[in-house]
Amino acid sequence: MTATNLQTDIEDMDRIQLINGLISQRGYKRYLEIGVKKGSCFEAIKVAHKTGVDPDMRALKPKYEKNWLKRLVAKPKQGFWHHASDNERLYELTSDDYFSRFDDQYDIIFIDGLHQFDQVLKDYVNAQNHLAPGGCVVLHDCNPLTEQAAERERSAETKIWNGDTWKAVYHLRRQGQQINVFEFDHGCGVAPKQPLPQTPWTEQDIRDLKDVPFQNLANDRANAVGLIAWQGFENVPTAG
Ligand SMILES: C[S@@+](CC[C@H](N)C(=O)[O-])C[C@H]1O[C@@H](n2cnc3c(N)ncnc32)[C@H](O)[C@@H]1O
Repeated sequence: MTATNLQTDIEDMDRIQLINGLISQRGYKRYLEIGVKKGSCFEAIKVAHKTGVDPDMRALKPKYEKNWLKRLVAKPKQGFWHHASDNERLYELTSDDYFSRFDDQYDIIFIDGLHQFDQVLKDYVNAQNHLAPGGCVVLHDCNPLTEQAAERERSAETKIWNGDTWKAVYHLRRQGQQINVFEFDHGCGVAPKQPLPQTPWTEQDIRDLKDVPFQNLANDRANAVGLIAWQGFENVPTAG
């Protein structure tokens, strides 16, 4: 990526352009993706060191391990599948398991795992705690356009499903966290590294958030999740 294609128009923007642009603009070296699925985003990220975490690596394993089925039966020493090369690591773990086992620091962490707000809250706090100074968190699926897309559980009829990730952003903003959401690609949130509240949430907050209606988002997206217009990389909020 060169400095010129940092001026990306809104039509060209998606999560991959955003992450690659931030890496290029800010000179980031270490990337962590929570929820990699088939690797569509992970493999497109251009960075010196990348790590991916997902409890279901079935789609990616065959690319890395020709004999992965045998290895699975044999159960790897660490008790979970992983792949590591000089510049790339993949772990078949939930994000909670990953963060409880590893202490590595990252410059940019993309949260795109389980799309339920209470898990996203955990991922966000863990991500902030593993960010190097000047780093940032990117969150996917923060701006569902319909009530069905925002349902907590994905139903058989749901075509586009973002889950209730937006409620994590909604809550964190009310806790004073600086997060903004760009509307492309289902809503991409960006939060610079920043101090966390002493108690980011309580059990009562979790119960209350389950009852927050979709209208709180639909009626005022700017206020609910900090939706802002895309105006190029120079306007992506930094710590401030
Ligand atoms: C929407 S997909 C990720 C797509 C990918 N980031 C991309 O942009 O191409 C969500 C993934 O999150 C994974 N996932 C579900 N629960 C998770 C958890 N607790 N921790 C990490 N990943 C999780 C799922 O297995 C699934 O592969």
